[in-house]
Amino acid sequence: MENNLPFSDIKYYPVADNIRLRPATLNDVEIALPWYQDMEVLKYTAAIERDTPYDRETVRSMYQYLLKIGECYIIEIEKDSTWLPIGDVTLSEETIPIVIGRKEFWGRGIAKNVLLYLIQRAKDIGYTRIKAQEIYDFNTRSLSLFRSLGFKELQKTEHGIEMELRLDE
Ligand SMILES: CC(C)(COP(=O)(O)OP(=O)(O)OC[C@H]1O[C@@H](n2cnc3c(N)ncnc32)[C@H](O)[C@@H]1OP(=O)(O)O)[C@@H](O)C(=O)NCCC(=O)NCCS
Repeated sequence: MENNLPFSDIKYYPVADNIRLRPATLNDVEIALPWYQDMEVLKYTAAIERDTPYDRETVRSMYQYLLKIGECYIIEIEKDSTWLPIGDVTLSEETIPIVIGRKEFWGRGIAKNVLLYLIQRAKDIGYTRIKAQEIYDFNTRSLSLFRSLGFKELQKTEHGIEMELRLDE
């Protein structure tokens, strides 16, 4: 589903003063491609046994999938009075994949703010839980991120753990 909304019709969701989300479309494949061609980013996502960057078709298929399973957003931050797309996140009950595709923005609390916002959104739309699918053992940044938000280990997986946040307790 191509979405060619006029510029003025794009909806933005403010997460913090300098962070916002906008619904992703397949037009974002071009924007996201460099993130998924950076092996340092890719090694932490669903590509443990993959040693080549994603190509355009793979990113496109991934976005088609993410747009189907939940609410897929592009994360933007304000820098020098311009909004920059720096990553993506998808809210669904079965998984909440998040990628800050530009490494220079890691460790600044951006993912934490985005996930806090989406946890509230999940509550508002009646989710009873959110699962985080396999987080690799070596992804200490992601493990501490999800733990600090209250996610608990659900089960061990081949290369890490699956986590869950209960929203009905
Ligand atoms: C994992 C990722 C989304 C985290 O995003 P981020 O914006 O860098 O994370 P934040 O700055 O919001 O940090 C959130 C938490 O991560 C932890 N963290 C941050 N920097 C860290 C570091 N260098 N080492 C270990 N933990 C770290 C902290 O616990 C922090 O929580 P706190 O505020 O309670 O201290 C980002 O690094 C990324 O996109 N990595 C590649 C893709 C990926 O791993 N995605 C997740 C797959 S499961």
